[in-house]
Amino acid sequence: MKSNVLKFFLSLELLLLTCPSIAAPLSKEPIRPLMMLKVDTQKAALGKLLFEDKRLSKDNTVACLNCHSYHTGGVDNLPVSTGVRGQQGAINAPTVFNAANNFVQFWDGRARNLEDQVGHVISNPKEFDSSFSLIIQKLSKDSAMVSEFKKLYPEGLSEPSIRSALAEFERGLITPSRFDRYLQGEANAINDQEKNGYQLFKSYGCIACHQGQNVGGNMFQVFGAMNNYFADRKTPKTDADNGRYNVTHKESDRHLFKVPSLRNVALTAPYFHDASAATLEQAINTMFKYQLGRTAPQQDKEDIAAFLKSLTGQHVLMNAQRP
Ligand code: HEC
Ligand code: HEC
Repeated sequence: MKSNVLKFFLSLELLLLTCPSIAAPLSKEPIRPLMMLKVDTQKAALGKLLFEDKRLSKDNTVACLNCHSYHTGGVDNLPVSTGVRGQQGAINAPTVFNAANNFVQFWDGRARNLEDQVGHVISNPKEFDSSFSLIIQKLSKDSAMVSEFKKLYPEGLSEPSIRSALAEFERGLITPSRFDRYLQGEANAINDQEKNGYQLFKSYGCIACHQGQNVGGNMFQVFGAMNNYFADRKTPKTDADNGRYNVTHKESDRHLFKVPSLRNVALTAPYFHDASAATLEQAINTMFKYQLGRTAPQQDKEDIAAFLKSLTGQHVLMNAQRP
């Protein structure tokens, strides 16, 4: 018995030595493999219906999906989004994919979690301009919806159950990528240029801010850590530029933003809270100048861009038919 166990481990060791594709995961990396979250699939399916439902907005013209499309990396690819009555928002829309992993929601972190975030969109006069009571009044007339809520929540259709179903759906929007397979030990899941880009991403210091499962989304940092970004920018300052200051009113929080996740970043142009970078290459240049205070050879920046593109993940909804 004992010798059989020994033999098993010996052959396993041999296998690991000879077969790189099932080698041990890269366990000490500052970027962690993306993990699926536990999701109640029935609640998530109900949440998906709500996510696509225009009745959530006051005049039944806008759904979450308008600004967070499945086919474009969970954003609208616009500098600012359009809410009810054609109103333009004040800040670039971040992605809903993997948002569940962010330590807080929104650029300035004013929502604690996904459930909390829902209330902000509903009441925002430039987004849904609505209220839970108006939404419940409308959805109460939809017997299929009412019975689905009754089935899944003891209290039925309510403010907490609407928040919960939407958040549950969003917790299912996790997009593992080729880079995660690499982190899990599949050495050839990314090519040499992408590997080099990852090494450069670490050695130049991008990793100090963009790290963890979301390659971002776990801290606030000032935009303009090494050079004054806002003094150099041509366009006038806006309220949104104040970032975290708008929440805390502490001078030390002015221009602090949640470091965005770089997952699916190849799909989510334009970049930054103010959409000032039209391309990924421009965004990387801005980061070198203002966050690192450094310059880099063109080839290094191209390799970093190649690495960032390997973070494009897959979710069934990304390939789904357009609604
Ligand atoms: C009119 C466009 C629009 C609609 C509709 C909209 N959003 Fe957003 N969403 C945005 C913008 C813009 C932001 C960033 C706002 C900020 O940070 O101040 C955002 C931020 C978010 C975030 C935070 C992501 C992060 O990384 O911080 C989540 C989650 C989210 N929205 C989910 C939803 C859900 C769920 C709905 C529907 C209930 C919805 N959104 C409807 C435009 C929209
Ligand atoms: C000191 C912290 C810090 C460092 C270092 C840093 N970043 Fe950032 N990064 C940020 C912050 C904060 C933002 C958001 C700025 C804003 O929009 O207000 C950001 C935004 C970005 C974006 C735009 C993402 C989006 O969805 O809009 C990209 C791309 C990016 N960083 C890549 C990099 C790369 C590549 C490096 C290294 C060359 C790097 N960053 C270094 C903090 C940092």
